[in-house]
Amino acid sequence: METKQLLPTPEGIDEAAHLLQEGQLVAIPTETVYGLAANALDPAAVASIFTAKERPMDNPLIVHIADMDDWAPLVTHIPDNARRLAEAYWPGPLTIILPAAECVPDEVRGGLSTVAVRFPSHPVAQAVILHAGCPLAAPSANRSGAPSPTNATRVTEDMQGRIAAVLDGGESAVGVESTVVDLCHTPPRLLRPGGITPAMLEEVLGTIEIDDAVTHTLKAGAVAASPGMKYKHYAPQARIRLVKGGAKSYVHYVNSHAGEGVVALCFEEELSSLTVPALSYGHRDDPLEQAHRLFDALRQLDEMGAKVVYAAAPCPRGVGLAVYNRLIRAAGFDVINAIRVIGLTGPTGAGKSTVADAWRQAGAAIIDADKAARAVTAPGSPCLAKLEEAFSPAILTPEGTLNRQELARRAFSSPENTALLNSITHPAIIDTMTAWLEAAAEEGHDAAVLDAPLLYEAGADRLCHHIVTVTANADHRLARIMARDGLSEEAARQRMNAQKPDSFYCREGVTILHNNGDESALQQQAAALWQHQDGWWSTE
Ligand code: TXA
Ligand code: MG
Repeated sequence: METKQLLPTPEGIDEAAHLLQEGQLVAIPTETVYGLAANALDPAAVASIFTAKERPMDNPLIVHIADMDDWAPLVTHIPDNARRLAEAYWPGPLTIILPAAECVPDEVRGGLSTVAVRFPSHPVAQAVILHAGCPLAAPSANRSGAPSPTNATRVTEDMQGRIAAVLDGGESAVGVESTVVDLCHTPPRLLRPGGITPAMLEEVLGTIEIDDAVTHTLKAGAVAASPGMKYKHYAPQARIRLVKGGAKSYVHYVNSHAGEGVVALCFEEELSSLTVPALSYGHRDDPLEQAHRLFDALRQLDEMGAKVVYAAAPCPRGVGLAVYNRLIRAAGFDVINAIRVIGLTGPTGAGKSTVADAWRQAGAAIIDADKAARAVTAPGSPCLAKLEEAFSPAILTPEGTLNRQELARRAFSSPENTALLNSITHPAIIDTMTAWLEAAAEEGHDAAVLDAPLLYEAGADRLCHHIVTVTANADHRLARIMARDGLSEEAARQRMNAQKPDSFYCREGVTILHNNGDESALQQQAAALWQHQDGWWSTE
């Protein structure tokens, strides 16, 4: 079959419409990506989409309309929230899922009882739909698994000889596929992020739920709410690895992993610092630009002969969530956290908080181990349930929260019980801190400080690239504990005696901050040390 190249003139649109009426396939421009269109009410035409794309039959298609009145015949009914959503964002990059009417062929629904409908804003898409006089089923016009095409050239690369025509309407403005929201579910569920952000949806719908599959790999045996989520997607030939962290940690990571076929998919800001071949997909703080450029960049990577691609992770907020969702799928969920982790520990009263505050001001993310310890024993947490099982329900208050005193009484009654407590809580604390480190990297931090009095005891030293101990003479610490916590000298001494000796904290390779002066002296020491940390980076 010869694939015709059509222009968005009245003749071109007319010819596209005729081909569609005949049951043929035509790739059409939309504001999100190019769509591979067929008459949605013609089962044979729809079936040929799956052949042309080599798409699994159980992955349903979106039905495109160009008039609000054309929605009602496709669904059993339009609830109020659906109508308000459509009024707010149609025409535009939003797909709404509702129970399907009988006229919608099984091929379109992929065997489900629901149908996805979208009213695109691209004038050429609208003109083709109106001229054809039927709704159009249109998945993205790529071969299944490849990045979606955002211009006619990319469509032709994938579809030459497989479809009747490509209608060239220029570059797609948004660049990632539409937001898909399922209104058959309460609360409404976001299945695929796109140009309409979660905040924009919540403005109309109130609270929504973001499907787990948006940012995480499906758990073994779980059923995908959106069948498309279970397939590897948007992937070029090269292996993609998603690198989380700020510009500096990203550049450091990539430059130290240079090698044959290694390419950086980075932000504009990093181009000049990278020593490996690099391709930018936009500015770090511009998710709209990233969305617009991502898919074409993924295709360019293959043209560059990339074998391993280190992709700078976008911040997963607003439209950035859509960019993140596509990239993490292209990477098959292979994520590297490049953030530098500095452990901060030392005995009580030595001045850790002052140091953490100084480093927060210098731009570090502070991960507080005490907060993590409280978070893992929140009501309803798996960790609290395990503690209840191990130490009896007496460790819970009538409200179901943790009674810390009671837990301490039981857990510290014997070394075995203490070990049991730690074996339950420490792995959960490590998991939580690891998740917080990942979030800090997503926010673009280059460095994080793990503020952990029990850094070694909890095994959190293994998360750190470098460790700093803050220590002070006993009389200094005694005075600080008494002043800070309002304790008598005896109580303060008791607390100090319960702690490990200085030698426990001041290990080989650890940087030691001696805090025997006043607070401003410590702040200055901390700031100076922070300036110095580049030295720690290069020693790995
Ligand atoms: O922006 C877009 O939506 C583009 C342009 C061409 O309009 N189209 C597009 O279609 O991205 P496609 O087929 O590549 O993606 C449709 C997604 C798939 O993940 C599919 O599983 C999901 O929507 N989907 C379609 N109908 C569904 C349904 N009834 N229930 C759940 N998910 C559905
Ligand atoms: Mg697609």
